[in-house]
Amino acid sequence: RRCVALIPAAGVGARMAAGSPKQYLPIAGQPMLRLTADAFLASPLISHTYIVVSEGDGYIDGVISPSETGVTVLRCGGPTRMDSILNGLRAVREQVADTDLVLVHDAARPGLTPALIRKLIEGAGDAPGGGLLALPVVDTVKSTRGSALATVPRDGLWLAQTPQMFNYALLLRALSEAPDPLAVTDDASAVEMLGYSPLLIEGHPRNLKVTLPSDIRIAEMYMAQTEQ
Ligand code: CTP
Ligand code: MG
Repeated sequence: RRCVALIPAAGVGARMAAGSPKQYLPIAGQPMLRLTADAFLASPLISHTYIVVSEGDGYIDGVISPSETGVTVLRCGGPTRMDSILNGLRAVREQVADTDLVLVHDAARPGLTPALIRKLIEGAGDAPGGGLLALPVVDTVKSTRGSALATVPRDGLWLAQTPQMFNYALLLRALSEAPDPLAVTDDASAVEMLGYSPLLIEGHPRNLKVTLPSDIRIAEMYMAQTEQ
């Protein structure tokens, strides 16, 4: 099965509130997006990597050289993550077959490894609804919906990570037809709306999403560890 990666990297990093978009901040001396892209470039299972950035992005050329092989930068980012992914999927229409698997992965998760990519593809590559990396919830969960405070049994609750992997045609249809874009909080939710059940494949805490300034140090701690 041919697999390609699509990395949305067109966000502004409002919660990080740094001088530049967070995907370009250094993590252990390397731009975050470089580390993220390198996980796919080092994987023998990934045929090509596409990175979606904003049209006016002034940082990308210093991170991914236009002449680098195996990776293509698409300057078609949109106002939301879902728009960036949809624009990216449409931009690669001619290069990708309907049955190819697309692994969508946040630029802001630099702790991904080729081993986790392999685990996802081997675990869910043949599943009709695709699959995603996720982590079982370890904390006690409280719900304050409505008036009552309740403790939600955490058994069966998972936290979604990325990559999230679907065949190209299914993901394109799911995102284009999503009835309520606000309910699409990740790619899998759009696929679920079509009635599919993506498989959950256990990820790893090192694949955290870098969102707040304090996450940088945590990511650096994982980068210093040997790969798992
Ligand atoms: N993303 C994107 N296009 C957007 C918004 C987000 O490609 N319009 C990407 C981000 O670059 C990031 C991933 O989607 O790699 C996950 O989004 P998030 O962590 O929310 O990043 P930001 O939107 O940049 O951060 P914030 O929400 O704090 O502004
Ligand atoms: Mg965001």
